[in-house]
Amino acid sequence: MNLIILAVIVLRTLLVSPVSSLDIDLGKSVIWGPGLGETTLPVRYFFVQLVNNAGENVTESQDIKLDIQLVGQPKNQRNAENCRYSLEQFDAGDGSIVVRYRIPQECRGVSIHVMYKGQHLGDSPYSIPSPIFPEICSCPLEIDEFRNVYKCPERHPQIEEDMSTFSGINYTHVQEKMLEKFSTDNPGSLAICQYVVLSGELFRRCFGKHVGFTMFMDATLLSILRKVKLPDFEIFVNLGDWPVSRKGGRSRTQGPWPVFSWCGSSDSFDIVMPTYDITESTLEAMNRVSLDIISVQKSATKWADKIPKAFFRGRDANRERLKSVELSRRNPELLDSAITNFFFFRDEEDTYGPKSPRVSFFDFFKYKFQINIDGTVAGYRFPYLLAGNSVVLKQDSPYYEHFYSQLKPMVHYIPFRRNLSDLIEKIHWAKSHDTTVRKIAQNARAFVRENLLPTHIFCYHVLLFEQWHQLTRLHKVSVASDMEKVPKPEESSSCSCDRKVQRDEL
Ligand SMILES: *[C@@H]1O[C@H](CO)[C@@H](O)[C@H](O)[C@H]1NC(C)=O
Ligand SMILES: *[C@@H]1O[C@H](CO)[C@@H](O)[C@H](O)[C@H]1NC(C)=O
Ligand SMILES: *[C@@H]1O[C@H](CO)[C@@H](O)[C@H](O)[C@H]1NC(C)=O
Repeated sequence: MNLIILAVIVLRTLLVSPVSSLDIDLGKSVIWGPGLGETTLPVRYFFVQLVNNAGENVTESQDIKLDIQLVGQPKNQRNAENCRYSLEQFDAGDGSIVVRYRIPQECRGVSIHVMYKGQHLGDSPYSIPSPIFPEICSCPLEIDEFRNVYKCPERHPQIEEDMSTFSGINYTHVQEKMLEKFSTDNPGSLAICQYVVLSGELFRRCFGKHVGFTMFMDATLLSILRKVKLPDFEIFVNLGDWPVSRKGGRSRTQGPWPVFSWCGSSDSFDIVMPTYDITESTLEAMNRVSLDIISVQKSATKWADKIPKAFFRGRDANRERLKSVELSRRNPELLDSAITNFFFFRDEEDTYGPKSPRVSFFDFFKYKFQINIDGTVAGYRFPYLLAGNSVVLKQDSPYYEHFYSQLKPMVHYIPFRRNLSDLIEKIHWAKSHDTTVRKIAQNARAFVRENLLPTHIFCYHVLLFEQWHQLTRLHKVSVASDMEKVPKPEESSSCSCDRKVQRDEL
């Protein structure tokens, strides 16, 4: 009997005793992110930065698992049951922990408890005054409210640059010309769809044979329309790889055309949107997609344990990728590069093959240096490489995604020449400047957390479409007779959208 009581006392002491083995001040640790507020996202997320007893940020993994719980009532509450949710936490390897969760149903009176060994971290528990909705709910906010809730920036340099090309155009006229051209061009070489947003509904018609990627664009636009009341607008979207609005001497009315693309280039005027890749992984995280901008931040390998070599795996989409294989064979102590699939240069498989087995993207980060070489156009893996706590060496390229103009060479990545002539020299340099390159890896991840997370991707689209609406406001948006309506998912209308907190629930 006494033994049992003793055991209970010992156990209780163990449970509530301060975290003595670890040098962490749980109360001073910092927790932030949209997953603690009312933002509607496919996957809600927040970050935990551990702080030590001296009040400094912890910079190495502490190998701890937090006890995190969401407490709240489902919309149609029965028997005091709790909201269902699925939650994951990732050790980011740098003293921070990434937490994310999905909710399948509307949930009210939510509080989020972040604890370790029975003690709360930061200001936990965090309560969310407004109900939270699953992403499928169509509960659009007024645009100003949206900006507030999602903490959108006022402006974006790339949007300003892209819009400035077309300021002052008569869009009605340009549109007529574009329709004329796209209706008569060879459909085999076209991958263009015209989208119309009118009173919150989505319509489109396509020109060309290669328009399978409408599924990404449809999903993106529908998801945005569920979150925010966009003004009416119309766009032509290029669903192909290459930018289409070539720079050249022609006048405004014959081009360049304002076409929205996922990839921009220095010799075109395409208006860039976040790529289908990063948007798709934003929408399908913790669902169909396993690699996304949050999950890629789990860093199993400590900086000091990373293999001090540069690493590349990918298909043969570009001749320089083959060249990197050649360099790798001559400098195996610096570079490990191989092709995973031959398609474009099949006849050279004997020289650059055999093809290498696929390596999980998460395992790339066992290596300290990551090589980003263009594929057909910009390598859409770049955002993920920047997030992985390794250093990215990036090939110079005329191609860019929506965020490249905010990046600085030698601050966020190490550049190398397009023809790879200085790549080996750059890897050499990186290997012998560990403190500097580690800082670059940290800056890159910080950039991702400030610019490339799901809220940023939604904000970019909204800012872009709003500014485009402004620029073309004299044009009367209408739905042509041969456009089809893109249907909203059925479940989207089954939500209450009631953001007010009921009195009796307070
Ligand atoms: C500690 O981390 C938090 C969260 O990333 C950050 O806001 C803060 O500036 C950091 N403090 C220092 C001294 O680096
Ligand atoms: C713009 O173009 C349309 C169609 O070509 C034309 O009818 C209209 O008058 C033009 N508007 C202005 C302000 O020039
Ligand atoms: C690689 O490109 C640089 C210019 O960026 C040029 O000076 C050099 O000659 C090129 N090297 C090869 C091997 O083509």
